Amino acid sequence: MSIIEKAASRIDQAREAAPAPVVVEHDGQKIVLEPQAQAAAPVARVEAPHVATPAVATPRVEAHRAEAPRPAATRVAAPGVATPRKTAPKPGVPKVDLDLVRMRDAGMVTAASGRTSLLEDFRVIKRPLLKQAFSEGSPGRPNNLIMITSSLPGEGKTYTAINLAMSIAMELDHTVLLVDADVARPSVLRTLGLPAQRGLMDILVDDKLDLSDVMLRTNVDTLSILPAGTSTPRATELLASSTMSSLVNEIASRYPDRVIIFDSPPLLLTSESRVLASHMGQIVMVVEAQATTQHAVKEALRQLEGCSNVNLIYNKARDIPGIEETYDYHYG
Ligand SMILES: Nc1ncnc2c1ncn2[C@@H]1O[C@H](COP(=O)(O)OP(=O)(O)OP(=O)(O)O)[C@@H](O)[C@H]1O
Ligand SMILES: [Mg+2]
Repeated sequence: MSIIEKAASRIDQAREAAPAPVVVEHDGQKIVLEPQAQAAAPVARVEAPHVATPAVATPRVEAHRAEAPRPAATRVAAPGVATPRKTAPKPGVPKVDLDLVRMRDAGMVTAASGRTSLLEDFRVIKRPLLKQAFSEGSPGRPNNLIMITSSLPGEGKTYTAINLAMSIAMELDHTVLLVDADVARPSVLRTLGLPAQRGLMDILVDDKLDLSDVMLRTNVDTLSILPAGTSTPRATELLASSTMSSLVNEIASRYPDRVIIFDSPPLLLTSESRVLASHMGQIVMVVEAQATTQHAVKEALRQLEGCSNVNLIYNKARDIPGIEETYDYHYG
């Protein structure tokens, strides 16, 4: 019986017995699948790293992954403190300016935002990912390659990818490359208020182009962006190509302190995400609260079978009792 079938049968048993969450083990992680009492359709609730909207209650936090040894200590820079980079990008790499005020006003993580609940949420989210990022991954799947995906469109992949990248960029010991791998419907540059540029797809089709020709440095010293680039109908094949394998391995190993975040398409609507997942050391699947059905989550997890280090984020959560007290207890 597969992990998904086991989870499904345990959910049925739990539903008859009591409204308790069902915990299943998947690659050494605990995943909690819980019927949502108030939703019309059952919703999978998965506890691991999570995110809440800044305006609403913060969902509860539980880290499920076993601690893994990590070579470099991770420290969080205080908001507003400059973050010196350890590995400067090549001088010729083009530079763009992120409008940090606009980003802050749009509710995104920035160093100038002060201590917001969103910033705290992403501190919790990034911690287990960073711990895993510098431990040894499976062959061909370095753990510092982290893909953000979801079952369906609009669940918050791009939002999570950008905020996670900004949050990791505030670390003293890490640099971040944010890759827009949603090559059919790229939105990282648009969300950041930047015009479309050449990027990942262009490197894969033109062997004269190098990563440094299209990678963008930003005014956040520790953050670079690789745009999706020129759209092509051969995207899935290009992402599955040996050129892509070489590229991701080069990206993963060029700087030892670098974390690479891939914003990606939804798993259930495209084949690109499944192909991308095959290169990744860690996967973060965003689950939209009150919207994503258990069926969709189970189907998406099925697509990820064979991937290690699958984490889930319960996004856009509302009204979880007792959370304010927890927040006050830690930071009040
Ligand atoms: N936790 C959150 N708090 C506030 N707004 C959010 C949150 N998560 C997502 N959003 C908003 O929801 C909308 C959809 O999010 P986003 O574009 O990140 O989804 P997506 O999964 O990347 O969608 P697509 O599949 O179309 O690429 C955006 O307007 C985004 O700003
Ligand atoms: Mg998106």
